[in-house]
Amino acid sequence: MNFNDELKARTQHVNAVIRDYLPKETGFQKTVLSAVNYSMEVGGKRLRPMMMECTYQMYGGRSTLIAPFMAAMEMIHNSSLIHDDLPALDNDAMRRGKKTTHKEFGEPMAIMAGDVLLNYAYETAFRSFDELKHKDEDPSVCSRIAEALRVLAAKSGINGMLGGQSCDVEYEGRALTEKQVEFINTTKTGALIEGSLMIGAILAGAPADQVSKLEEIGRDIGLAFQIQDDILDVTGNAQEFGKPIGSDVRNKKTTFVSLFGVPAGKQRVERLSENALRNFDSLSAEHEFLRRLLEELATRRK
Ligand code: IPE
Ligand code: IPE
Ligand code: MG
Ligand code: MG
Ligand code: MG
Repeated sequence: MNFNDELKARTQHVNAVIRDYLPKETGFQKTVLSAVNYSMEVGGKRLRPMMMECTYQMYGGRSTLIAPFMAAMEMIHNSSLIHDDLPALDNDAMRRGKKTTHKEFGEPMAIMAGDVLLNYAYETAFRSFDELKHKDEDPSVCSRIAEALRVLAAKSGINGMLGGQSCDVEYEGRALTEKQVEFINTTKTGALIEGSLMIGAILAGAPADQVSKLEEIGRDIGLAFQIQDDILDVTGNAQEFGKPIGSDVRNKKTTFVSLFGVPAGKQRVERLSENALRNFDSLSAEHEFLRRLLEELATRRK
């Protein structure tokens, strides 16, 4: 199968996995559940769960244990996006080519939907233990699930995505050093990508040195991914990108691009991507599709 066909098939598969774990829109609290499901609907690239499944397969993982974690990671990502778009943060009206959650449901429901999703992600990840009841899993799998839960929480938290997002919004309109911008990018965006690559390998029982290497690869890929996002925020096409152009300038964000310009940004993305791919090639296992996916991200347009 060629890369684009496989990408399409894998995206559809991830969408189906996510759909299985979405909450039912019933009960007195159904409005917030509609807001949750609105934000989770098809439209995103689903890169994080896709990467997670790839590293799981790469290290020999074969069971459905991974499925709840794939959905959970996308839920945490979506929770971050709902809050990121709020008027108090980036104040954006469009995401994935549709109205942002607060534009569709109002601010109170969007705030609650972000919280609900963050918690529901853990409720969902815990369902990984349910998979064990029905299948003949090796007993060490329980400790793998525990470690995967630890990584999921750590990469989402104060030293990961939430820490980065907090600094990102606190330092709007203020001068930042290159190191500080790098900190924000590797936490707000890199952390979930690191976590995704790591969790797949952890659940498959990969050795610790492989998990650490994947963390390092995720750091480079994540930093490159955010710089590319910042480049597209200047040079992109809103229709293709699915979100407004110029959000960072409007919000006076200090980014790698505002500090050094687009050409230097592109160079940095290329260097980070090359480094990540070199590291990927030194892993003890291979995954042709994942390698190509990581490579393609350096020149993505959406
Ligand atoms: C958007 O992430 C937020 C950033 C980390 C730049 P994606 O570009 O992965 O967004 P979707 O999920 O595909 O919409
Ligand atoms: C946010 O970065 C990354 C998140 C963790 C949500 P941006 O604010 O640049 O993301 P977009 O451009 O709105 O998707
Ligand atoms: Mg933001
Ligand atoms: Mg934003
Ligand atoms: Mg952006």
